[in-house]
Amino acid sequence: DWNASEMLEEAFAMVKEIGDKKVLCAFSGGVDSLVAATLSEKILGGNLYCFFVDNGLLRTQDYIHIEKLKKETNLNIEVIDAKKEFLGALENVSEPEAKRKIIGKMFIEIFEKKVKDFETNHKIHFEYLLQGTLYPDVIESSPHINGGKSVTIKSHHNVGGLPERMKLKLLEPLRHLFKDEVREMGLSLNLKRDWVYRHPFPGPGLGVRILGEITPKAIKACQDSDQILYEELLEAKLYHSTWQAFTVYLPVQTVGVKGDGRAYENVICLRMVNSSDGMTANWSHFPHEFLEVVSRRITNEVAGITRVVYDITSKPPGTIEWE
Ligand code: XMP
Repeated sequence: DWNASEMLEEAFAMVKEIGDKKVLCAFSGGVDSLVAATLSEKILGGNLYCFFVDNGLLRTQDYIHIEKLKKETNLNIEVIDAKKEFLGALENVSEPEAKRKIIGKMFIEIFEKKVKDFETNHKIHFEYLLQGTLYPDVIESSPHINGGKSVTIKSHHNVGGLPERMKLKLLEPLRHLFKDEVREMGLSLNLKRDWVYRHPFPGPGLGVRILGEITPKAIKACQDSDQILYEELLEAKLYHSTWQAFTVYLPVQTVGVKGDGRAYENVICLRMVNSSDGMTANWSHFPHEFLEVVSRRITNEVAGITRVVYDITSKPPGTIEWE
């Protein structure tokens, strides 16, 4: 495909410009960072280091995905285990914006510290930060186009503060591309279709899908229920019929019956939406038979859950995430 190879040549040229320097990538395993890292690795080879922060708020499918990428790609991926630090900082915090701010701040602090330690231990110096910034992000952060008029509904978490803090120059080989072009590029780089067509997952992860305080019990219930939903979407071949599909843990207890006794346990909400850009969305009209299978599995298999509900709110007025 002529178009795809032209886009790739342009991206390669941007990476070539930096020469023989060490490059750091804040790697999430999502399509943007994966495509940016894969194409850059072809030019940079061992000079590219991908750091993946495990904040303890990832889905089971993300842990599986990162292990696959470590095994099946040429990328040099360092996993930073920061579960304890994140969960410690989030203890007793339940206000949504407070949680988002803590997660964003912790990410930057931990990333910076671990990278500095790595530089000392390996006697290297990073000069560039590779980011999978896309064209819409470039426009959105341009003061000329935004005119300072944008209203923040939720403080989106990204790695925006990193380059200044760490005095890194930016390498953004996808900055002229839209999401569909990035996906096309990923395929032309021989990345697996499943990897290139994953649903978006927010930076704060399960932190905004566990309402109220983030406890180990809530994380486990959110991960286990999300994994069931994910497996059933694949099984029913519905994964690609929806923009995002996930479970939300509600800090609400309701009465139920389990075995031969009364249960007083938490609620899981299924959230599945169709959208083209995340700005507006409709709830996905999935078959009742599918919902029944997912609900039965979650109440049977997930500890502490006796009730499953389905969110039938579109955006607006409901946002996609619950926090
Ligand atoms: P909302 O909930 O605002 O979400 O309707 C719109 C889209 O943005 C994603 N989202 C985020 N992505 N960092 C991200 O990278 C964030 O903090 C964040 N918050 C929401 C959300 O998953 C949906 O795709």
